[in-house]
Amino acid sequence: MDAAENGTPPASGRFATPLNRDVPPAAPGEFEPLRLRNLRVWPPVVLAPMAGVTNYPFRSLCREFGAGLYVSEMITARGYLNDNALTHLLASSPPEEQPRSIQVYGSDPVDVGEMVRRLVDDGVDHVDLNLGCPVRKVTSHGGGAAIPAKPRLMARLVRAMVGCAGDVPVTVKVRKGIDEGIDTHLDAGRVAQEEGASAIGLHARTAAQLYAGDADWGAVGELKAAVSIPVLGNGDVWEAWDALRLMRSTGCDGVIVGRGCLGRPWLFRELADVFDGRVPAPPPNLGGVVEVLRDHSERMMAFFGERMGLRQMRKWASWYTKGFRGSAAARGRLMRVETLPELLAVLGELDADEPFPLAAVRASRAKGGRTQRVRLPDGYLDDRDDDTPPRTPHSADELAAWERALQAG
Ligand SMILES: Cc1cc2nc3c(=O)[nH]c(=O)nc-3n(C[C@H](O)[C@H](O)[C@H](O)COP(=O)(O)O)c2cc1C
Repeated sequence: MDAAENGTPPASGRFATPLNRDVPPAAPGEFEPLRLRNLRVWPPVVLAPMAGVTNYPFRSLCREFGAGLYVSEMITARGYLNDNALTHLLASSPPEEQPRSIQVYGSDPVDVGEMVRRLVDDGVDHVDLNLGCPVRKVTSHGGGAAIPAKPRLMARLVRAMVGCAGDVPVTVKVRKGIDEGIDTHLDAGRVAQEEGASAIGLHARTAAQLYAGDADWGAVGELKAAVSIPVLGNGDVWEAWDALRLMRSTGCDGVIVGRGCLGRPWLFRELADVFDGRVPAPPPNLGGVVEVLRDHSERMMAFFGERMGLRQMRKWASWYTKGFRGSAAARGRLMRVETLPELLAVLGELDADEPFPLAAVRASRAKGGRTQRVRLPDGYLDDRDDDTPPRTPHSADELAAWERALQAG
């Protein structure tokens, strides 16, 4: 069916990609707001937690384009409880950020409970538990994506968070499983529901798949059919149209958007448009993209300080300009810029009038296509009823190495 057949005239100059040309925007009343206890989220769109990405500056930029729920990158419970300065900076945001949403990483029920208690005292509006981290250093200790393979351990973690959260909704985010042989998402759904989680997000890939290949949206539909709490589908929402396709094909209650918004924060405007029944305007040309990049840079420098903020913009500059003519050649210089004027000078050599490249819409800007063999602790799967938390690092050195692995992962 074409947009016109759905009652919505296609906007002139509609930016239709070959894959999504025929997806109609939402019809009135077709989708409901996502409800997480007292939080009402419309459109039912969640910015995925992404380490090194979804800090306050990026969240505030995305929010200015659209609406929905914008989750922090994972904040480690140990770093937070040990008063690590960077961990606290990453968990912080000014009072105007509302709702304020934080993803917690931890594998000790006492730690995650205590962290949630402190976050709630500090005014947080939503907490999510990361149960999908595939990083070797994490799974080899029995953390992250390894946890749902031990449902009773997962239950202890969710129970601890829910018990300390009061009225604040707690959600969990999981992967489909460890690998093709060890599926965990249905067990995780059951546990999340039994322990009082307000929703479950499913990145429909296994930990072995990392970010490679296509997400298995069929697994999202399977989870939706198995639980009564809201299910958030995640994986491969590159365009606003994909969010509609994912919800229509699985019946899920909302979508989580990860890599699609890297260097494309206006994706949240496009999402708001299609959920409200409108056809989005085409994305900005290169001149418009550079303006967004300048705004993002200023937010980053205000939050992290000029040097640290701008250094992080190097990778963003290559994400924002991906697919534009001459951007590949400029990449080396972009990776060395030290100041905002230098950054803008390199970008100023490109053609500001160049339209947004179609091929860059569905291109992954982060994480390659490699897969992995997941490392678990020796004998980890021998007793899946075991609910003993894995040992988490406690010394400052151990913790610093751990935080680095998570950020890089
Ligand atoms: C750079 C990067 C960092 C990520 N960090 C986290 C994280 O901190 N917590 C988490 O639950 N998932 C993390 N993820 C996974 C995403 O939240 C999401 O599940 C995944 O990218 C799949 O969605 P997508 O296909 O829309 O990108 C990260 C992904 C990327 C690309």
